[in-house]
Amino acid sequence: MESTSSNNNVSQALVIIILSMTVVLILLVSYAKNILLFLGIIKQHGPQDDDKTEKDSSKSEIPDNKEATKSKDTNQLNKMATSKKDRTVSKSKFTHEHLVATLKSHTGIISDMHFSPNGKYLASCADDRSIYVWIIKDFLNNSSKSIRVNVDYDHATKLCFSPDNKAFLVTLFSEETIRVYKMAKKEDGTLGKIQSAFDFPEKCPHEVLTIGIASTGLYVMTCYKNPIIKIWDIKGTLLTSIDTLQMNHTHGRVSPCGRFVACSGFTSEVKVWEVTFSKTNEFKETTKAFQLGSHTSTIYSFDFNNDSTRMATISKDGTWKLWDTNIDYKRRQDPKLLRTWNCQSSFVGSSLLCLSANGLSVAIANHGSVYIYNVYDEDCDRIEDLCIGDIVAVEFSPSNAHLAVCTEKSIFVFHNVKGLKGFIKDLKLKIQSASTTSMKERIKEQINTAMTQLASLDK
Ligand SMILES: *[C@@H]1O[C@H](CO)[C@@H](O)[C@H](O)[C@H]1NC(C)=O
Ligand SMILES: *[C@@H]1O[C@H](CO)[C@@H](O)[C@H](O)[C@H]1NC(C)=O
Ligand SMILES: *[C@@H]1O[C@H](CO)[C@@H](O)[C@H](O)[C@H]1NC(C)=O
Ligand SMILES: *[C@@H]1O[C@H](CO)[C@@H](O)[C@H](O)[C@H]1NC(C)=O
Repeated sequence: MESTSSNNNVSQALVIIILSMTVVLILLVSYAKNILLFLGIIKQHGPQDDDKTEKDSSKSEIPDNKEATKSKDTNQLNKMATSKKDRTVSKSKFTHEHLVATLKSHTGIISDMHFSPNGKYLASCADDRSIYVWIIKDFLNNSSKSIRVNVDYDHATKLCFSPDNKAFLVTLFSEETIRVYKMAKKEDGTLGKIQSAFDFPEKCPHEVLTIGIASTGLYVMTCYKNPIIKIWDIKGTLLTSIDTLQMNHTHGRVSPCGRFVACSGFTSEVKVWEVTFSKTNEFKETTKAFQLGSHTSTIYSFDFNNDSTRMATISKDGTWKLWDTNIDYKRRQDPKLLRTWNCQSSFVGSSLLCLSANGLSVAIANHGSVYIYNVYDEDCDRIEDLCIGDIVAVEFSPSNAHLAVCTEKSIFVFHNVKGLKGFIKDLKLKIQSASTTSMKERIKEQINTAMTQLASLDK
């Protein structure tokens, strides 16, 4: 009897030892996994490829229109109504007669998108730690080239291209600073590796609304939600801070001529400052230049055309306006209001606005829809219910031919048909005032080309 009880004791002890060893082992394994994760050896948010490698045309990169419309963004439409399981099954499509391409690759929420000044690239960043640079020529051709950049242990929130198209700047979420990425070219002139070059030494700790670089290459601007604009030199030294007295900001930009920075906010004006430099390019000062002020409520957004001679504004007062800013503000000339349009009555909350390079088209994004105008017509083209949430960004391509609309999940590129119609009207007005017959002939040719283009798009 005694021996069996001691045998029992021994086997009980053995069981306890084995159990506790198993527990220790499990703890060790999970601990080790965390360490590896921390060291980045295992990539949890698994970028499929090595850092900064170029991806060649793989179907999965940019699906063609058919495929693209199947999945995420239209899923977004169904998000509210359906469960996660249903979403992968439901394949309702977003289609539009003017849709050119749907760019999707980000797995996280996209926070910003911009064209490069030369119109060759489109870049976007998301909270999945990725930045994508798309090659416009390729996606217009149904091909699918983009370059992925991984932002390690962080993600980019806002971005802008340098004026020479050889670099871009991003604001980093965790580091709270600005990082410069250089875009190398291959021997055949195509885009090569994209690598981080350096971080700005100073932090920019408040929430950045927009970042921009002057076309002169002399300064970088960051505009924050709280009413401050900071001006940096391109190495990241803070030159000055402007307290804009706007209560809070809704938008900020550098003018394409590089002379001005502007912001809108709680007040009903867009305020514009000139950033001045000495002849030897030493920063001097910022001075109040002019303001756009005939709205009666908060301005949500504004934009310049490519030579800063036109601006457009959109306000909570239910209107949007076109301005002539080809003025000599030093002689106390004020911007001239050219025309006011009423916004759609269906608008809710704030809106985004962009003006095309030639100053002839305006796109307004409100909630999940976009409205495209030209400056000669009262009415607009509509792209409705693109997404459930708010549209993140809208921008015309520098060639005026396309409009990119960025939702949280993907980027849609459309033909700017409304803008082409405006361009034709503009040419027809120009032909009337053309002084020589050769000039008239040239404009006539342009009109014919544009009409042919329009006929092929506007079926
Ligand atoms: C599309 O590809 C063809 C053939 O490679 C090329 O000739 C054409 O210029 C491309 N079009 C655009 C818009 O890039
Ligand atoms: C791209 O694909 C669409 C649909 O498949 C087609 O209609 C269009 O002509 C193609 N565009 C080019 C430039 O190949
Ligand atoms: C800006 O400030 C005003 C006044 O304090 C406030 O009513 C408004 O909601 C603020 N807007 C944003 C976008 O924070
Ligand atoms: C602005 O755009 C127009 C038309 O698209 C173009 O002719 C002109 O050269 C551009 N100007 C600048 C400064 O980029």
